[in-house]
Amino acid sequence: HEEFTKVKNIATIELGRYEIETWYFSPFPPEYNDSLKLYFCEFCLNFMKCKEQLQRHMRKCDLKHPPGDEIYRSGTLSMFEVDGKKNKVYGQNLCYLAKLFLDHKTLYYDVDLFLFYILCECDDRGCHMVGYFSKEKHSEESYNLACILTLPPYQRKGYGKFLIAFSYELSKKEGKVGTPERPLSDLGLLSYRGYWTRVLLDILKKHKGNISIKELSDMTAIKAEDILNTLQSLELIQYRKGQHVICADPKVLDRHLKAAGRGGLEVDVSKLIWTPYK
Ligand code: COA
Ligand code: NA
Repeated sequence: HEEFTKVKNIATIELGRYEIETWYFSPFPPEYNDSLKLYFCEFCLNFMKCKEQLQRHMRKCDLKHPPGDEIYRSGTLSMFEVDGKKNKVYGQNLCYLAKLFLDHKTLYYDVDLFLFYILCECDDRGCHMVGYFSKEKHSEESYNLACILTLPPYQRKGYGKFLIAFSYELSKKEGKVGTPERPLSDLGLLSYRGYWTRVLLDILKKHKGNISIKELSDMTAIKAEDILNTLQSLELIQYRKGQHVICADPKVLDRHLKAAGRGGLEVDVSKLIWTPYK
């Protein structure tokens, strides 16, 4: 079976100032498959088989940030929106790179149909990619996120929750609810569970009186099913007289909030300048 012969090919990559060990197989074009290490241009994401080639490339490459529109800037943090149709090679390079850290997703889809949101830390040398998420231009399943990645050197610092929060801010601007494409990886699910728990319980803590799942969904752009599942897994839902009732004992909420981990980096919505894709 083809699936079983897909052993990890590229063991390490160089990207900007980092050398990163890879996690999974990625389907690079055959001429790259005899290399153990690949050298990426951190800005255009072109990849090469040797350091000298990268150095030659860096002298020519004009990019100092992803090839798209900067739609968010707060302090040193910037988000760029890249249209896969206008920047096909960049989109494909990003997919090759991302697959090195994604187990199950098939990334062989058409990049034309996606927007890529590239999160960067910026300094005087340029905007350095921290992670990204992709989003279908039109999703019939109300997906607001297809793939999400924080590059390993940046993981566990709150960037993942920032990317998730950002995807919901875009949904709010669209006036739609959203949900991530399934299946989620273990780390993906942990990050989403943490995000959903924090957002929902923060509202429940402040809210006086009854609140419905529909109202929570309208406020957060989180799909009703994801809200119900999250609250059910926390045992905050009771079924009374044929209806779901949320119970929100402040002590119980505080206990769950503590267990949900840190809040992650905040999205400052006032710094988001964006209109939905048409
Ligand atoms: N071990 C245990 N829990 C972890 C973890 C790890 N190595 N990495 C993340 N988590 C959990 C924690 O609950 C964490 O919150 P906390 O640090 O407050 O406890 C939460 O996930 C999110 O942490 P955060 O720092 O915001 O996320 P991140 O920047 O590390 O990114 C992913 C999270 C999922 C994007 C990242 O792990 C990743 O890119 N993984 C590879 C690609 C992937 O699996 N993507 C999802 C496909 S659907
Ligand atoms: Na789809």
